[in-house]
Amino acid sequence: MKVHIYEKLWIVGAALMIAGFLGAMAYAAGRHAVHPPSHIETIDPLTVRTGSEFAAPEIRTLEDGTVEVIGVAEMFQFRPSTIRVPVDTPVKFRMTSPDVLHGFQIAMTNVNVMIVPGYVSEMTVSFPRKGEYLILCNEYCGLSHHLMYGRLVVE
Ligand code: CUA
Repeated sequence: MKVHIYEKLWIVGAALMIAGFLGAMAYAAGRHAVHPPSHIETIDPLTVRTGSEFAAPEIRTLEDGTVEVIGVAEMFQFRPSTIRVPVDTPVKFRMTSPDVLHGFQIAMTNVNVMIVPGYVSEMTVSFPRKGEYLILCNEYCGLSHHLMYGRLVVE
């Protein structure tokens, strides 16, 4: 069977593009440590409410000045429901769920992560503008999903 020269060029071109894209991903992951925000820390969902740091959700300031939010997304609320943080300060969110999949989206910011039972989602963000922001659950989690919201106050 004879393959036309144009066909060969397309095959080689497509293969080079795929190799290029995979190479770019490998480079970003290996060299620049790019990874999804939900990293691979796991937790037993049954212990979330009782035997873990998430039993008493809180907002605390770490030694390096970072504000740490230990938070829970559960049917059908966020704890703490109001999160107060200082402006222009790194805020590290550590979130998990004791029941089902939830979303944690802070409207008008680029915070938008899935809260997956069994995993701790962690992300660090600074908020450059003072104000009140709506926190929404954007993953359907049950009959009262639409009532699940919270508040972020940057002050
Ligand atoms: Cu929680 Cu939707």
